[in-house]
Amino acid sequence: MLTQTRAWQRLQEHHRQVSGSHMRDLFDRDDRRMQRFSLQFEDLLFDFSKNRITDQTLELLCDLARECGLADRIEGMFAGEAVNCTEGRAALHVALRNRSNRPMKVDGEDVMPAVNAVLTQMRSFVEGVHSGAWRGFSGERIRDVVNIGIGGSDLGPRMIVQALTPYHHSGLKVHFVSNIDPADLLDTLAGLRPETTLFLVASKTFGTQETLANAHAAKDWFLRCAGDQQHVARHFVAISTHRQRVRDFGIDPENMFTFWDWVGGRYSLWSAIGLSIALAVGMQRFEELLAGAHAVDEHFRSAPFEKNLPVVMALLGIWYINFFGAASHAIVPYAQHLQRLPAYLQQADMESNGKTTTCEGRAVSWDTGPVVWGEPGTNGQHAFFQLLHQGSRLVPVDFLLPACSHYALGAHQDMLLANCLAQAEALMRGRTEDEVRRQLREEGLGTAEIERLAPHRVFPGNRPSNLFMFGKLAPRTLGSLVALYEHKIYVQGVLWGVNSFDQWGVELGKKLADTILSELQGEGDLREHDSSTTALIHRVRCFPRR
Ligand code: F6P
Repeated sequence: MLTQTRAWQRLQEHHRQVSGSHMRDLFDRDDRRMQRFSLQFEDLLFDFSKNRITDQTLELLCDLARECGLADRIEGMFAGEAVNCTEGRAALHVALRNRSNRPMKVDGEDVMPAVNAVLTQMRSFVEGVHSGAWRGFSGERIRDVVNIGIGGSDLGPRMIVQALTPYHHSGLKVHFVSNIDPADLLDTLAGLRPETTLFLVASKTFGTQETLANAHAAKDWFLRCAGDQQHVARHFVAISTHRQRVRDFGIDPENMFTFWDWVGGRYSLWSAIGLSIALAVGMQRFEELLAGAHAVDEHFRSAPFEKNLPVVMALLGIWYINFFGAASHAIVPYAQHLQRLPAYLQQADMESNGKTTTCEGRAVSWDTGPVVWGEPGTNGQHAFFQLLHQGSRLVPVDFLLPACSHYALGAHQDMLLANCLAQAEALMRGRTEDEVRRQLREEGLGTAEIERLAPHRVFPGNRPSNLFMFGKLAPRTLGSLVALYEHKIYVQGVLWGVNSFDQWGVELGKKLADTILSELQGEGDLREHDSSTTALIHRVRCFPRR
């Protein structure tokens, strides 16, 4: 058990010794701290020096990983073992981006030929749409692509498409519809013409209520213009593991891009689920994204834990969650185009490690996955940074900072960089009461006023952050970044002993929603609900809804 390991016990003792020290002093004592606590991976610099750690902390955390058998578990994932223990499945998303093309096996069968065949199919489809060889029913070129999907069939592609805006193929716009709120689909369709719109219905199971309802509504919208059912084939393609359901929906399996049950939904952007990405930026860029992720996979598999970026990221998280009681983790990209990264990582992390039962079926007695949240800087500075600096909770932060912009506009990029670096420094150093008093005196304030204001102007500092710095946000870099987070999540799941690849917790709500939907639409008696839910259903029935 995790808490019984020798390393855990030693980490507890170590925490007692070091938790009182201030990072400001650690920096003052060691002017090579940044060099010692940073890692370079291709053009990604990972600076983790602004953490409440010493060399010993890192050693003990790596010991913990060793005691938990992490090396075997990493190999197990790459070997296609059923690491998704509750569903008896492999989690082999690494095969989707295996640019080395070395055989990767699930149940003894090399999956690479199938992976490569889908990539070839994607390439020819994307080229067809881009060149105009694939046209709509009226003979016009496709101008708009609408990806209809939710969760893993939306968040990853949506985040990547936005992040790679400077690489977008001209003449084609990619849109995303996910929510069952009618506003989502209707707002999107409002600006589109059926003759020039292509729908990608993206659903691993092809059974997700929201996606199917939106896809049916989109098909109705299309047919109101196109008239003939046979035109659907030029305007609807499916991305799924479920051929029969695709056929039942009315999409020709010829127009289906397949993937496999060993690809978890939230790990699927590398599969055909990434078709919207490939359409937005071209197949070559999509393959660069895969290559960036693959490079991280090779690093993850081979680097010693102390130098292994996703392992270090994971261990730092465990240090704060399990020893400092941190409950959340903020993701703050200083890049407008990474606006959806926090939402993407929310699903990746919280659906993966929001668990309290170990693979052996026992309840954990330690904290697991954090609340993941965030917003791009500098916007976040003017919203939630107050709490990060002076709130009562410790919130570790990840900053993501492209040093160069794709765009030239005055001193904007320098200001962005300066703000990010300043926030990380301020979180770490804080401002002491002496410094505050000195500053207030310089501002010419009197003694009484200084006494009154000083306590409010003190920043405790000692607030941890990691910082990723890279050049321009390019497909390869982005692929690497995402893969780093995926593996970080896996490592944490392994150490906490939970299965990072199932999501039973979302099922109950889905089932209840089906029951309540039929009750909302009917007149009859309600099944057994609590008094609050019953009253709310009755209240809804009173509103005119059509
Ligand atoms: O709601 C949970 C979930 O199962 C996610 O894990 C998944 O990414 C999403 O729903 C969508 O599922 P599908 O791709 O099967 O439509």
